[in-house]
Amino acid sequence: MNHFITLKDISATDLRKIVTDAKKRKDKRKKLSTLDVDKDNPLKGKLLIQMFEKSSLRTRLSFYLAIKQLGGGTITLRANELHLGKGGESLADTARILSTYGDGFMLRTDSDKKIEEFSKYLTIPIINGLSPSSHPTQVLSDIFTVEEIKKKPISKLNICWIGDSNNVLNSLIAASVKFSFKLSIGCPKNYEPKKFVFDWVKKHKGKINIYNDAKKAVKNADIIFSDKVISLNDKVNKTKKIKDFKSFQINSKLISLAKKNATFLHCLPRGTEVSSEVFLGKNSKVWLQALNRVHVQKSILLYCFGKLR
Ligand code: CP
Ligand code: NVA
Repeated sequence: MNHFITLKDISATDLRKIVTDAKKRKDKRKKLSTLDVDKDNPLKGKLLIQMFEKSSLRTRLSFYLAIKQLGGGTITLRANELHLGKGGESLADTARILSTYGDGFMLRTDSDKKIEEFSKYLTIPIINGLSPSSHPTQVLSDIFTVEEIKKKPISKLNICWIGDSNNVLNSLIAASVKFSFKLSIGCPKNYEPKKFVFDWVKKHKGKINIYNDAKKAVKNADIIFSDKVISLNDKVNKTKKIKDFKSFQINSKLISLAKKNATFLHCLPRGTEVSSEVFLGKNSKVWLQALNRVHVQKSILLYCFGKLR
């Protein structure tokens, strides 16, 4: 079995295998309906337990469909209805019970430490469904989407991120090293990624470029990513942060500085970081991006269950 906690911890070979498997499975499902099971029924009889300590629409639904299409089932626990959530049971015992009843555990949490703790006591794989430091299932799926749209390896493309240095960006940075692509980041001064992120990139011979000017960051971009300026449970002065990001809004004027056929991607939900014109416009592929979560998470589940071909 394999945990899926951060992209940094997974080998480039395994990450590429997941993306390749997702493509094959997606291609084979063209004539199947939403709840039809893949022909090989690889996770028949398996139960994925999901728990969300923070809101979710896409991750919740895409994991539901992913495990169903692989022949398994899922149950979603409400964190505040567990003894653990109310402080009446230890995390270790909760993990042992999850391992007794279930075959996999997907957790969205406000605590990276909690994921680490769970991974110590679980005897089933844990999947990070978003934590303060990363959002690995989202970004691996985004790599798949980029290659599907551009029909070439991501290593041959210029990738740009305009926005906050948050969990999604951390995973994108890890992906830039694992998949060897050029990443330009545009963010206001004092909102750059933390030093340990740069140190990790340097140690792994990666390269990222930071610009405190959105126009410079988007120049020559094939793909422009963004995300909300205010993340879930972000404990900041929201008014000030939104004001600080004002000149980093992705609008038609900014996107015109990228390559002519540049693609806009956003994990959703959205805020003021992108104009509706761009978000709903011809460069945007955000709905395909959201749908692809299902396909890539299926291959992530197979990786976790040791069943990736
Ligand atoms: N992109 C994403 O993870 O969406 P949800 O928060 O709705 O799961
Ligand atoms: N950075 C965002 C991603 C939401 C899917 C957040 O953490 O809220």
